Amino acid sequence: MDYKAYLAARLPVEGISREEIAESIAVPPDPAMGDYALPCFKFAKLLHRAPALIAEELRAQYPLDEVIESAETAGAYLNFRINRRGLAAETLSRIQREGAHYGDSDMGRGKTVCIDYSSVNIAKPFHIGHLSTTVLGGSLYRIFKALGYRVVGINHLGDYGTQFGKLISAYKHWGNREEVERGGIHAINALYVRFTKEATEEMEQEAREYFRLIESGDEEANALFEWFKSLTLAYVNTIYDRLHITFDSYAGERFYIDKMQPVIDALKEKGLLIESRGAQVVDLEAYGMPPFIVLRSDGASLYATRDLAAAFYRKNTYDFDKCLYVVAYQQNLHFKQLFKVIELMGEPWAKDLVHVAYGMVSLEDGAMSTRQGKVVWLEDVISRCVEKARDVLAEKNPDLENKDDVAEKVGVGAVVFGALYNNKIKDIVFSYEKALNFDGETSVYVQYTCARAFSVLTKAKEGGICYADAEILAPNAQEFELLKALASFPEVVAAAAENYEPSLIARFAVDTAQKFNKFYIDCKIMQAETEELRAFRLRLAEATLTALKNALTLLGIGVPEKM
Ligand code: ARG
Repeated sequence: MDYKAYLAARLPVEGISREEIAESIAVPPDPAMGDYALPCFKFAKLLHRAPALIAEELRAQYPLDEVIESAETAGAYLNFRINRRGLAAETLSRIQREGAHYGDSDMGRGKTVCIDYSSVNIAKPFHIGHLSTTVLGGSLYRIFKALGYRVVGINHLGDYGTQFGKLISAYKHWGNREEVERGGIHAINALYVRFTKEATEEMEQEAREYFRLIESGDEEANALFEWFKSLTLAYVNTIYDRLHITFDSYAGERFYIDKMQPVIDALKEKGLLIESRGAQVVDLEAYGMPPFIVLRSDGASLYATRDLAAAFYRKNTYDFDKCLYVVAYQQNLHFKQLFKVIELMGEPWAKDLVHVAYGMVSLEDGAMSTRQGKVVWLEDVISRCVEKARDVLAEKNPDLENKDDVAEKVGVGAVVFGALYNNKIKDIVFSYEKALNFDGETSVYVQYTCARAFSVLTKAKEGGICYADAEILAPNAQEFELLKALASFPEVVAAAAENYEPSLIARFAVDTAQKFNKFYIDCKIMQAETEELRAFRLRLAEATLTALKNALTLLGIGVPEKM
């Protein structure tokens, strides 16, 4: 139930819309004040009365019912108490009914969202810098799906450029098939790095020729390129599997090479393309931006040109309502320029393009620092975190069953959660110790809470206790705080989509787990005073487990039953 809307519908203030009232309603910091409060300062000017007087007037005419139990003023505030039993009944039966779909909605029905994320570069390392785009994008993908949108996940591969000519040249000089097959992306990357360090002018010349050969459809050059590409994708797919990430399209930069011309023609036709030092550019000076380069002086296209063609292709192919680009903030200018150019072309959907920018992730751990240009492979971070998770778990619970499976869920979860817990634009310093702290604001804390709930429920079932139809009782303070958190989940999921901010779900998970643990410690479940109370509390524990599981699933984090 949306209590704010419910209250707003019963709080008529002349000259102020229901939506505005709903937005003004807040949750008091101290639950002793009430569950919701309407501050009346804002209305004083409009109504020519003191805020406290307005609060009192509204209170006098507020229709109390089985949903809202009391309305009281405290100065300029009008505080409401909701009917706790009503909240418990509604929330518990809804969670029970919807199960794994609790949190879903159909707000996106008939709408399409494209999400461009992870977007790896062929033959280049899949490194820690790709963590955020991969898990943020993956989580947004699941969130929008849960809200009923059609979602198109796009891995905009970096598969075009002169570097592939260099790679072929390096391979011809120093590589051999077995070694590359065996070493995969690491071997390919090593060849490329060696080229950048040791290539002679002759090899540079040769590389340009190989690039030209790829372009002109030469069979051997293309076979080599496709081989490098398939080795890279095979490698990244193993990591996507561990992170539970999927894509609907791998249309990369190369895919757009033959789709650029119509867009360039359109730019010309609209008089937007001008020549500048031999290059073809769109002038953006009026918008305080450097020119958007469409074609270099040698006629070659750029990353930006391919993105321009890609945007049109996506609009034409998917007819999206929104197209998200989950890309680091270093590319802020690129996307600002891109969106502006599309707007200048008169395309109304330019407003539906969104750059979902995020901050940098670095490691606290000195052993794998990015300093001295050392690349930190994402796979190494994940594996290391899983190893550390195994140690932490062994210490906590030496008899744990399914050690490998649990360590994988906990370790991978910690890396994912590390990237998703903070507001996305913040730079993050990842620490294994902190990420694996059972008592911190961590995924392992949430997972452990789930295991705790699971264990109580299992005990009850083994003892033949039925609680599915338990009578709903009036909740005490701890139960009520937990119930309120559980009830907020659908709103949290919607807000996460609206703000492109999975961290809201991560925070929900930690907050709810904290409230469950307070309830668990303060209130006896299996030893409750009465059978009714025990059954009610078990039902509450089950609802908590469902909501926490759903939250972690939306983030892409697995939930072990036992820990
Ligand atoms: N491959 C690019 C990089 O690593 C990211 C591509 C993002 N997507 C896009 N449509 N530009 O920087």
